[in-house]
Amino acid sequence: MGNKILLTGGAGYIGSHTYVALIEAGFEVVILDNFSNSNPSVLIRLGQITGQNQVICYEGSVLDKALLAQIFTEHDISAVIHFAALKAVGESVEQPLAYFSTNVTGLLCLLEEMKSAGITRLVFSSSATVYGEPEEVPIAETAPLQFTSPYGFTKVASEQILTQAAAADPWAFGVLRYFNPARAHPSGLIGEDPSDIPNNLMPYIAKVASGALPHLNVFGNDYDTRDGTGERDYIHVCDLARGHVLSVQKLLSTDEGHVVNLGTGQAYSVLEMNTAYGKAAGRDLPYVIAPRRAGDVPTCLADVRKAKEVLGFETHFGLDDMCQSSWNWIETQARS
Ligand code: WQD
Repeated sequence: MGNKILLTGGAGYIGSHTYVALIEAGFEVVILDNFSNSNPSVLIRLGQITGQNQVICYEGSVLDKALLAQIFTEHDISAVIHFAALKAVGESVEQPLAYFSTNVTGLLCLLEEMKSAGITRLVFSSSATVYGEPEEVPIAETAPLQFTSPYGFTKVASEQILTQAAAADPWAFGVLRYFNPARAHPSGLIGEDPSDIPNNLMPYIAKVASGALPHLNVFGNDYDTRDGTGERDYIHVCDLARGHVLSVQKLLSTDEGHVVNLGTGQAYSVLEMNTAYGKAAGRDLPYVIAPRRAGDVPTCLADVRKAKEVLGFETHFGLDDMCQSSWNWIETQARS
């Protein structure tokens, strides 16, 4: 069996880190990316990290079925890892049709071309957002699925499409429900690179630390949590990337599908994250208390037992490692 993997959205934040992890695990990798939320310059840095002279990347969309067919003709792909999607909750409320098109129609286009090419293994990038407002934490994979935004709907709908498709044809799907991806590759060469003002906490704190933003707005300090601010399960992006390698290896070796949480099982509050990042940056980072953000839940925390049982997955990076690697990325960007 071959070991060439297609990464849709492979130039993005999680895709690029997964590219590195796959190369280091001995796979060959092809990227498809339309650079709508990534920068082509990452391809050069991927070559630097992996020591490759050439990173194979096709520029285009998963909606382009002819391009997908061309890739599957030109490369003997054994499995696909599907990152290419829109992922901002707030933006999905403003542009639902764009989210349905890219995230749901895009998945269908990919599945149709995979089927035509006889490729049956897919790792799907899902999210803890499919749990909506959890009834209990830690959240197990058996928790009911619900959505609180068009983005969340696209992830629930996509998981349902995979479930129904697998009932009819011999697909093997690895569904990975990410909790809160954060941080950056220790080299500082790749990381989260939002083009505008970040929605997510960690890139926002990083911009405050770099001086690009004046202070953090803490969205509410009256939640029923340790210090009143929102608690989340932040997983280092390199741990997350390794989870994808384990998932695709599982599919290639057993053709057994799986649905697992990828988190740490540890939650940190907004203020705890801000303090930890300030330690890495060497100064206290300013913040102000702001009103709650619509749709936020008090605590989101993964039950990590199934990922350990099914994939042998465990996280390696702790909070301080995560803040330091993110700060390294910021300093590298500042130098460049
Ligand atoms: C984390 C905490 C905020 C920004 C989102 C998506 C989810 C997934 C990950 C794609 C919360 C607080 C944030 C800020 C703040 N994306 N916060 N000030 O909302 O848990 O998850 O990203 O799959 O689908 O919903 O992450 O980083 O936006 O927020 O106080 O400027 O930080 O209230 O408690 P979230 P987040």
